[in-house]
Amino acid sequence: MTRKLVIDTDTAGDDTQALLMAALADSVDLEALTVVAGNVEFDYEVENAKYTLDMAGVADEVPVYEGSRSPLVKEFDHVDHVHGEGGLGGELFPETGIDSADGHAVDAIVAAARESPGEVTLACIGPLTNVALALRREPDLNDLLDEVWVMGGALATLGNDTPAAEFNFWVDPDAAKVVLNELDVTLVDWGLTLRQGTIGGARLDEFTEADTPYADFCAEITSHARAFSEERFGTDAATFPDTLTLACLVNPDLVEEAETYFVDVDEREGMTRGYSLIDELGITDGEPRTRVVESVDEAAFERMVGDMLVHADPERSV
Ligand code: RIB
Ligand code: CA
Repeated sequence: MTRKLVIDTDTAGDDTQALLMAALADSVDLEALTVVAGNVEFDYEVENAKYTLDMAGVADEVPVYEGSRSPLVKEFDHVDHVHGEGGLGGELFPETGIDSADGHAVDAIVAAARESPGEVTLACIGPLTNVALALRREPDLNDLLDEVWVMGGALATLGNDTPAAEFNFWVDPDAAKVVLNELDVTLVDWGLTLRQGTIGGARLDEFTEADTPYADFCAEITSHARAFSEERFGTDAATFPDTLTLACLVNPDLVEEAETYFVDVDEREGMTRGYSLIDELGITDGEPRTRVVESVDEAAFERMVGDMLVHADPERSV
């Protein structure tokens, strides 16, 4: 059975690979993209999203709704230094000429949920501003949605944007707090990404050798990130947090271990802005409602990425 899917994205870097995975997988029906402020300047993100859909041959079927251009409350910085200017490696600046859909992303999320109660899965791979606003517009959002998957947080591990925080939660910690407190979320965090959602340069080069349009695109969007990784960590690799999230959603058998905990976010400005707390020992009286993905079948994940890039079919061996 195909599942209806809406993706909220700050399209740059591996967001593109997550979108490709969703567009190419038969088990999900990608209904819409909603764009949120995050990785790079907003208009680049919108074009990056349209370009990716176009590449997957679904730009006519999947509307792109523009959403929040800034977080709920706080100032933030883009991360062009990670993904390259524009977010696709630094040399690709699409101008698709494709129109955005009429209406605001927040309304699109609410409308999709109301139209098909209990049938729509929401995948959130950017800061959570649009989703928090959708919750304020439709307080029954949790009941109306089927599943909510979020990439964000750094659970009991160092952040990537600051020592305390992962990027998506750091950008809009107020929104992340609302979403984790009010929705039943399955969470893929930065720690899992480092443990099992990172692909080494040699493996990435193997994909590129296939010389397919998707593999070439992946090589382009990871070029700057690989150099960044080399410089910061001394490792030639690229992280795929958003792609890992979509892979788990598309193929739930990928998830080997998951537990439900109370997870909360520090929304205060300062050095712990965006810090994600996980109450692993049940010490607080917070309600455990966040399902945390703790381990995945890493080899199967890499296979899905390879099958997507080389054969245009992420589910080829699922
Ligand atoms: O911290 C990882 C997140 O921010 C991902 O969603 C990716 O897009 C990144 O920039
Ligand atoms: Ca993202």
